[in-house]
Amino acid sequence: MYMTSWPEPVIRVQHLSESGIRAIPERYVKLPGDRPGSEAMADVHVSIPVIDMRKLLSDERAAADEIGDACREWGFFQVVNHGVSHELVAGMREAWRRFFRLPFEEKNKYANSPATYEGYGSRLGVEKGMSLDWSDYFFLHYLPVEVRDPSKWPTLPDSCRELLVKYSEEVVKLGNQLMKIFSINLGLEEGYLLEAFGGVGNMSACMRANYYPQCPQPHLALGLSPHSDPGGMTILLPDENISGLQVHHAGYWVTVKPIPNAFVVNLGDQLQVLSNGKYKSVEHRVLVNAWKERVSLAFFYNPRGDILIKPAEPLVTEAEPPLYPAMTFDEYRLYIRTRGPCGKSQVDSQLIKSPP
Ligand code: OGA
Ligand code: NI
Repeated sequence: MYMTSWPEPVIRVQHLSESGIRAIPERYVKLPGDRPGSEAMADVHVSIPVIDMRKLLSDERAAADEIGDACREWGFFQVVNHGVSHELVAGMREAWRRFFRLPFEEKNKYANSPATYEGYGSRLGVEKGMSLDWSDYFFLHYLPVEVRDPSKWPTLPDSCRELLVKYSEEVVKLGNQLMKIFSINLGLEEGYLLEAFGGVGNMSACMRANYYPQCPQPHLALGLSPHSDPGGMTILLPDENISGLQVHHAGYWVTVKPIPNAFVVNLGDQLQVLSNGKYKSVEHRVLVNAWKERVSLAFFYNPRGDILIKPAEPLVTEAEPPLYPAMTFDEYRLYIRTRGPCGKSQVDSQLIKSPP
């Protein structure tokens, strides 16, 4: 059930960071096996696929195959020449950097609660005593329009609300385009996946600006614990100056090296379900560091909350029975909202082990 307040007093991680402490509080110290660097290192030359969206114009089929391979093998890719204005992207980065630089009393006007998560927050999950991550965030709903409430969006900096709408409009277009490619690549009607999400303008979308402050003991903490994104797909604008995002691939944590003006796209659990396991939502996590804060903007392109999501019918055959039961996204996302980031435990626990 929804909780309307946090189980413990809220501590802003940025505040801890700026207080000059040398040792982080116990709650942020990960168990030895969960700390960064406690595992074998991946080859530093391995990286997630890079997709040039311009290729869609010259050879749609080949581009769709490339994207499809990335979705099957990695669940992650970067996109360049994606059509979203670089100026808007730069404006958004700057607006959110400025938001997090505002005094705490200003930011706290937007303090969130676990009922909707909307606003300025410092934890995911409501379990008392749970381990915490080294980050603050601002979360807001963008679509469907009925749930959009710009009065809950920051008024400062001035340009923030206007930029948000312009940026989101373009990012949704990119998302729609990718949904079409995914559909084609899976052998579905080109509008299949978008329809399954609720149709144009009727799917849901939200955004989280993540703020990872400098951490005096980065080897003990994580900016965001391993998780798969519960929704449809995430279109992430990583910090252009500093890496931190790592993707779990072939048993290793692979660091994403941000390319200027690129987005990082990753599939969420709902596309894993709709594709009946052909596409993978992949675990990822964020590292922090001692010398520089990191800001990222995660745009979550999701199914409408009240529609049942289940494996696409054309992909279900006698030889390939449905791997997941039907469930609405509203129901599904209660899990991460209650327990916080827990790897891929949710979608894995849904797996139908013997065909019904
Ligand atoms: C997320 C996420 C990665 C990042 O917000 O779900 O995985 O680099 N963010 O901030
Ligand atoms: Ni994520």
